[in-house]
Amino acid sequence: MLIPMPVLAIDAGTTGVTALVVDESGSVISRGYSEFAQGFPRPGWVEHEPANIWVAVQVAARAALEDSPSAPTCIGITNQRETAVIWDRRSLSAPRPAIVWQDRRTTDICTRLREDGHEDLVRRTTGLRLDPYFTATKYMWVAQQNPQLWQQVRDGKFALGTIDSYVVARLTGGRSHITDVTNASRTLLYNTFEGAWSDELCELFDVPIDALPEVVPSSGQLARTDPDAFLGLDLPIGGIAGDQQAALFGQVCFEPGSSKCTYGTGSFVLVNTGDAPVTSDAGLLTTVAWDLGNGPVFALEGSIFVTGSAVQWLRDGLQIIQTSAEVESLAASVPDSGGVVFVPALTGLGAPDWDPTARGTIVGITRGTTRAHLARAALEAIAFEVRDVVDIMCAEAALDVPALSVDGGASVNNLLCQIQADQLDAVVRRPQVPDTTALGAAFFAGLATGVWAGMDELSATWQEERRFTPTGGVRDNGDHDRWRDAVRRSLGWD
Ligand code: G3P
Repeated sequence: MLIPMPVLAIDAGTTGVTALVVDESGSVISRGYSEFAQGFPRPGWVEHEPANIWVAVQVAARAALEDSPSAPTCIGITNQRETAVIWDRRSLSAPRPAIVWQDRRTTDICTRLREDGHEDLVRRTTGLRLDPYFTATKYMWVAQQNPQLWQQVRDGKFALGTIDSYVVARLTGGRSHITDVTNASRTLLYNTFEGAWSDELCELFDVPIDALPEVVPSSGQLARTDPDAFLGLDLPIGGIAGDQQAALFGQVCFEPGSSKCTYGTGSFVLVNTGDAPVTSDAGLLTTVAWDLGNGPVFALEGSIFVTGSAVQWLRDGLQIIQTSAEVESLAASVPDSGGVVFVPALTGLGAPDWDPTARGTIVGITRGTTRAHLARAALEAIAFEVRDVVDIMCAEAALDVPALSVDGGASVNNLLCQIQADQLDAVVRRPQVPDTTALGAAFFAGLATGVWAGMDELSATWQEERRFTPTGGVRDNGDHDRWRDAVRRSLGWD
């Protein structure tokens, strides 16, 4: 008889934590979810209390475990990336809130560093850009605002790390201070091309290198949970990866040229570029896709900041829908947006325009405009943003993207998927398991612990739920030109 070897995957996302128990066939046996509070202390600032994230991890994991017929054999972690956390190495409590990836408070720091001529070093070393999105300037801000706290970071009292490091520290009762290479490659402190923390960048951003976690592969015997700290469980942590890289893995995009788009809080398009990093001059990021212990695989990424959060804004800000799911039927109630274009630059703009001072813009409103047109314009905006980065990927990496695999919360929206296929003029494929982020974390962990023997077994688990084929003639009908015109109007607003 086959002994079941389920994997517990924990996805510590931006708005909540999802825990899945996954079996050997890649099916989800049980799940748990727990949301935590978002802090918006000032315009453009976004904070999380690390203790709340830890509570959410335990609540979500407990719920998934209670519904699972068999106990997990290992754990995989995935997480919102770039968010800067500081915690006490002994008590594991945090002296201040985490500064979230969406937070724009370091716009001035980035401008100053750019004016001082550091952009080139940053890009050459990290494959990223000088933007508040990434971790390093968030730490630099804390160092400038609270020198006393920063001295304690220097003295070794406090540890630094992204959410993966913090969650692992908690799971292991403070024994492990590690981060995986995919998360490290998002900090602006890691030399993506040489595979090590960069002394030069740590100095530039005033980050003591000793306060940073040890960088480990995304899959392997990485750490072990402490039963006193985590639900009585003594399990190997076999996988750690940033959520977008985990989704690429969960979508089994193992071949160079294969790509996925995850529609979450934002939208993140990643294309596997194999063992050679591809750099971009047009606003894409070079990032580590994973390292299974035998060297890095790279990806080119288009990071779009606002997607699901635009729909949330229609719900909570404008209050024109009651649930996020309602956006689909409302948008489908009109044949088009009636000329309305919505640029959802609600936390600045990421790829490909990269402007932290951009503001949300709605143009083309007439007396005939209704909330349905706005809902439709929001879905179109998401599809236009994704098209913009895919077009650049095709041009810069000389790629052909005949099909895009989609996942994440908004991928259940059939209208969005159809608009996306029409804008890309490419097939959009949706898998059976929409939680590919957590699935990817399970894959990394299960590969390391013998649940799966290799990548072929993982590829065999991927099943298509539905595909959307392009209608034809939509891509070049002028709507996208109007979109780009509206984007230009949203830039440089602050
Ligand atoms: O880079 C930010 C990303 O990791 C956040 O992902 O899914 O929490 O919006 P998500």
